[in-house]
Amino acid sequence: MKDFIYGIPKAELHIHIEGSLEPELMFEIARRNDIKLPYDSVESAREVYNFQNLESFLDIYYAGGSVLLYDRDFYDLTWAYLQRAANQNVRHTEIFFDPQTHTQRGVSFETAFNGIHQALQDGRQLLGISSKLILCFLRDLSAEAAMETLEQAKPFQDRIVAVGLDSSELGNPPSKFKEVFDKARSEGFLTIAHAGEEGPPEYIWEAIELLKVSRIDHGVRCTEDPQLVQYLADKQIPLTVCPLSNVKLQVFDSIAEHNLKQLIDLGLCATVNSDDPAYFGGYISENIEAVQTGLNLSQDDIYKLAKNSFQSSFLSATEKLNFITELDRFMAQFS
Ligand code: ADE
Ligand code: ZN
Repeated sequence: MKDFIYGIPKAELHIHIEGSLEPELMFEIARRNDIKLPYDSVESAREVYNFQNLESFLDIYYAGGSVLLYDRDFYDLTWAYLQRAANQNVRHTEIFFDPQTHTQRGVSFETAFNGIHQALQDGRQLLGISSKLILCFLRDLSAEAAMETLEQAKPFQDRIVAVGLDSSELGNPPSKFKEVFDKARSEGFLTIAHAGEEGPPEYIWEAIELLKVSRIDHGVRCTEDPQLVQYLADKQIPLTVCPLSNVKLQVFDSIAEHNLKQLIDLGLCATVNSDDPAYFGGYISENIEAVQTGLNLSQDDIYKLAKNSFQSSFLSATEKLNFITELDRFMAQFS
């Protein structure tokens, strides 16, 4: 089963690139940029990776991201992720980045963008991994700040497929960003949003109705609203579920109590993703492995998750079909 999980062709649709910064690389970049970290060692950094909720994680996550100053730092960060992803047979990845985390510190949008984008290009050429880039607005900041960030994205618009919404969910409903998302869509961006991670089902409705999202990030609290579940199932609106994240941030007490299997059985279009792998103890395959074990998923469940991941991506119909054909060829070895 382990070889099956690591080897199955898959797409990752919910990965914050800043959340893939492993402590080893954090220390290396801090050293070369002459930045003092609040930890003595890689081990002591890992020791503080115990979180009570989303908010307590975000404090650590933004502190970690503050070592990133130059194009090269963003390149190295992205390249390290792509190598790990390619090793787990991630064939396509849709990477989130948080430009405001960097522009707030005086690092330009362009610096973050260029480093990440160059690594994605090299990933395509050298690792054969397909990718798209998604800009996330920090929802705890103002709608005006998001609008400014959208403006800064203009020169790079042809290389950014969608905009999303992340950071502190509670008290920052999707409705706060309706105008920004209207503008983004009018400029040709697709839209997604974190909703129903810590926030209530109403935030998922708002993301759908006001922000017109193509996918919901997390969305696990949808099961509290049967009408919403029905709607998500009817429309096959994808949920990018992140099981290890949900346990680390105490959305569920354990993997055994996670509702992923329920979501699959309800006919929802669920996918499995890593969210912030450096902080939550695993990349996409470790996430799939955890739910396979904890929820007793079958090979067929895992096939469905992998198929959903390609189907839910922002690839063209032809590209999706090519990856699903590759997936079906992989599956033929097991039948
Ligand atoms: N930013 C990075 N990871 C996040 C998460 N799980 N939820 C909201 N914002 C995030
Ligand atoms: Zn996330």
